[in-house]
Amino acid sequence: MDLRSAVAESDLTTLRVHYDWRNDRFGLALSREWDGDTDFARYARVFAVDQVPCRQPRALGGEQARELIDQRGAAAALSQLESLMRAGRHEMIVLNVHRDLGICTCNNVHSSVLGLNNGHHAIRAGGIRRHAPTEPEHEVLVDGLNLGRAMSFKNAGARIPFGGCKMTVRCEPFALDDEARLGFVAYGIDSGCFFTGPDMGFSPELADALRARFTQNIVGGPGGAMGPTGTPTARGTFLAIQEAALVAWGGGLEGRTAAVQGLGAVGLPLAKLLAEAGMKIVAADTDEARLHAAKLGIGAIRVVAPEAILQHECDLLAPCAIGGVLDAAAIDQLRCRMVYGSANNQLAAVSQDDEIELAARLDGRGILYQPDWTHNTAGVMAGWEEYLHQGDARLERIEPHLVRVCEEGTRDLLAEHRRTGKTPTALAYAQVERVIYPEA
Ligand code: NAI
Repeated sequence: MDLRSAVAESDLTTLRVHYDWRNDRFGLALSREWDGDTDFARYARVFAVDQVPCRQPRALGGEQARELIDQRGAAAALSQLESLMRAGRHEMIVLNVHRDLGICTCNNVHSSVLGLNNGHHAIRAGGIRRHAPTEPEHEVLVDGLNLGRAMSFKNAGARIPFGGCKMTVRCEPFALDDEARLGFVAYGIDSGCFFTGPDMGFSPELADALRARFTQNIVGGPGGAMGPTGTPTARGTFLAIQEAALVAWGGGLEGRTAAVQGLGAVGLPLAKLLAEAGMKIVAADTDEARLHAAKLGIGAIRVVAPEAILQHECDLLAPCAIGGVLDAAAIDQLRCRMVYGSANNQLAAVSQDDEIELAARLDGRGILYQPDWTHNTAGVMAGWEEYLHQGDARLERIEPHLVRVCEEGTRDLLAEHRRTGKTPTALAYAQVERVIYPEA
């Protein structure tokens, strides 16, 4: 049995698992925090986050909670979850199960360190992603925990004062006027002391509906003040590329060739910036319409097949489509001087150690690379700006920060790389680990 079912079948609502990674100790709590007929459409109107009506509250801690999970046949699922949390040094997960609404939210908290006492309600930031209820719980937990951990690094890299958390929501898609489900998701966000923005499976319009009715702790919807984040993300990566070129070939971009994989929300504006800087653009996209739009927007652009772009001879390879495109075999076939693109998790790594190893392989081939989270960070900066300033948020306000992180940050990182001979990836992780895992 999975944990969600163990909670629901015990007539409970919430499972919290805490992990103290300094002492390798787990804490467990099961509770009943609302009734089946509690009307979440009234959330944030009639009752607040810490006043959810519950006629028969109940709480079980420690061994009692573990025994109940055991009785329900979910001990193996709990033990798998604890192994994942131990491996990733995750602080906490909170599973909120609403049986009648058919929704289970999960706050995958990796680290709160950067957000502690930051002066805001939210001390963690990260996206919200929907999964189908039929997806196996273990897979959803792996996805959520990995993304939660990545957010700690991304926030730290962007130097914004929030810890890392990802929220997963297991449910069927629901309508923009489904107040009970919206209210329940808003409660999950607010009670997690976290602000979020829409990620895969969670429509941006739902973010606007949540903001309009239930919580200001979600940003990034189409009606938000910041607009789409693709263009500022492209700018951050472009600033890093200019710095990296000085190290990779000791000069500017003029006359050099860029191979861009993916011409979407970030890839297209990045290709435009590179073309404006005098680069020759070679590009691939699996979607013909995107290629057509790029030809109209950029002009001279050479198109190659999607399966040929990574091995194309060029100065800069810019992966701007999907993650995990560079495994050891792909790295061995690259014919470029540096890899800088917007895609998240470009290296096909399942752990940080793996990533550092693949980065060393790139370095061994004389290819300059630094982790994407050090420069594709304008999205989180835009989220931060919108969270702080709400309707008055402005893109111009993040510009100095973008320059500090993506341009000056890259310059400093690459100077250290040249001084120490260590890869930029190993150095970037070491820098951020000092912040995320103090006293480790
Ligand atoms: P998008 O969906 O707008 O664009 C992706 C493009 O890649 C699409 O045009 C798609 O057809 C193409 N594509 C997919 N598979 C491909 C393949 N195998 N070969 C060539 N092209 C392929 O997505 P978006 O927003 O531009 O994001 C791109 C990457 O950047 C993703 O990894 C995303 O996680 C990351 N990112 C996006 C941010 C944003 O603000 N949009 C912020 C930070 C990272």
